[in-house]
Amino acid sequence: MRGPLSPSSCRSSSPSLMIPAPNEEDMKEILLIDDEPGIRLTFSRILEKEGYRVETAANFAEAKESLSTSCPDVVISDIILPGASGIEILKMIKEHSPDIPVIMITGEPNIDTAIESVRQGAYDYLSKPINRQQLCGAVARAMEKKWLVDEHKRLEAETLRYQRELEDKVRERTRALEELNAFINNVIESISSGLITLDLSGKITMVNTRALEFLHGENKSEIIGQRYDQLFPQDLAQAVGRVIQEADFSRSHEFELGERTIGYNVSPLLDNEQKIRGNVIIMRDISEKKRLERELIQSEKLATLGLLAGKISHEMRNPLFGILGYAELLESKYPQEEELRQIISQALRLKKMTSDLLMISKPKPPLITSVDLNAILRETLDFLREVTGQIKYHEVIQKYHPNLPLIQGDKEQIKQMFTNLIINASQAMKDQPAERSILTVGTGMAEEGRLVLAYVQDTGCGIADQDLERIFDPFYTTKGEEGTGLGMAVIREIVNKHHGQIKIESRIGEGTRVSVLLPVVG
Ligand SMILES: Nc1ncnc2c1ncn2[C@@H]1O[C@H](COP(=O)(O)OP(=O)(O)OP(=O)(O)O)[C@@H](O)[C@H]1O
Ligand SMILES: [Mg+2]
Repeated sequence: MRGPLSPSSCRSSSPSLMIPAPNEEDMKEILLIDDEPGIRLTFSRILEKEGYRVETAANFAEAKESLSTSCPDVVISDIILPGASGIEILKMIKEHSPDIPVIMITGEPNIDTAIESVRQGAYDYLSKPINRQQLCGAVARAMEKKWLVDEHKRLEAETLRYQRELEDKVRERTRALEELNAFINNVIESISSGLITLDLSGKITMVNTRALEFLHGENKSEIIGQRYDQLFPQDLAQAVGRVIQEADFSRSHEFELGERTIGYNVSPLLDNEQKIRGNVIIMRDISEKKRLERELIQSEKLATLGLLAGKISHEMRNPLFGILGYAELLESKYPQEEELRQIISQALRLKKMTSDLLMISKPKPPLITSVDLNAILRETLDFLREVTGQIKYHEVIQKYHPNLPLIQGDKEQIKQMFTNLIINASQAMKDQPAERSILTVGTGMAEEGRLVLAYVQDTGCGIADQDLERIFDPFYTTKGEEGTGLGMAVIREIVNKHHGQIKIESRIGEGTRVSVLLPVVG
């Protein structure tokens, strides 16, 4: 910033590349208006000596012309001029460039003209004769006034610029903060867990949408600000309270919410200086995980049981075959003995159970050949109807696919599978009136010819949804003494060995359809 420079210091300011004179630009400029050539010459010389650049004009028109092309720092004008007066010039300058100080001079000192000049905004008023000191003094003061006005304006403009820059920066920072905020919000909303933060007094300060479902809340605003121990289910509130009190932050915890199991973690909420400012609670529904865990335990138990059962069955086979052989021998000698028939029937039941158990626990690898499902299904059905007589009371519908491709499989195992299915279907209808007991067996194609399917359908009691999974568990039976609960487990084993799938459609009181899908290419 430069002070009100004396003209000589103006000239010593930094060199400019402007042509013609390097410091020409910095020279202060004066417009001198007087109709007397002598005054113009004398005053110009004095002022130029002082280091000002002086433009002159002899009347209003010349002054106007000069003001239209340049902008002097100070104007000195005679009041009495030919044509328009110096007061007119003063008015014009005040109207267009109010910051230029104007010094009025006159040959006839007159209080009215002086008052009028000041009223119109003249900066100073000099009466002729004017000596060098008066002139230079008035010009220096006017220059200083001009400098102050310019400087004030410059500072104002600079302040405005800084203010704008500051506003821009604040806007930019605000936008960046808003973006960051939105990003953090999106992350919080996108995580699959419920997230809740508490302050040190236990009030909820933040909650994501996922957390609402654990708190039975409709919207976040009604939850924020409430105490967790008034909002959480009582058991959970007490458990969370204990975790916070004991600072037991390293473990996951669980609680039962209706039918669901909820897992949660509590952690301290730290600020930048690692001071605890509250707590963060993360909750997730772990019901599915729990179910799988239970199933795993169950299947491990079953596997152990299966191994055991397999071993026992194996050990039982030889004595059992012995009993059966001797009983049949005795029966041929004493065909009238009912007790013998009972022994044989119970021994046969045991024999079936041991072979079923062995099939599940120690399945033999399938003996693969090309097999025709239509033929096996028909044979099995005929055998059960005619030879064993197990399904003789029902109407049977058969719908075989005419061009069913052969598949690669173990004929005996597939026969076993159909036997179990048909017997289950027939047992499911045993309490139905005979005319409503319809057994339908059939075959078909699925998945654009990649699979063949065989199904056994009944109009029996049906299976409840919640029991559908369990019917494959070994020893699961609803038939009491009549069943061993191994039939479906054997079917699943056989289907797995053949890389197939089982589909069950069932309605309580209406019936069941079990479909087995096997790959065409084994
Ligand atoms: N078609 C069906 N309709 C209704 N319930 C069925 C049907 N098939 C199977 N179930 C249900 O599944 C249970 C298990 O069947 P699974 O064949 O494994 O054993 P089971 O028939 O009881 O005894 P078994 O070992 O003599 O076959 C049955 O007790 C029955 O409750
Ligand atoms: Mg069965």
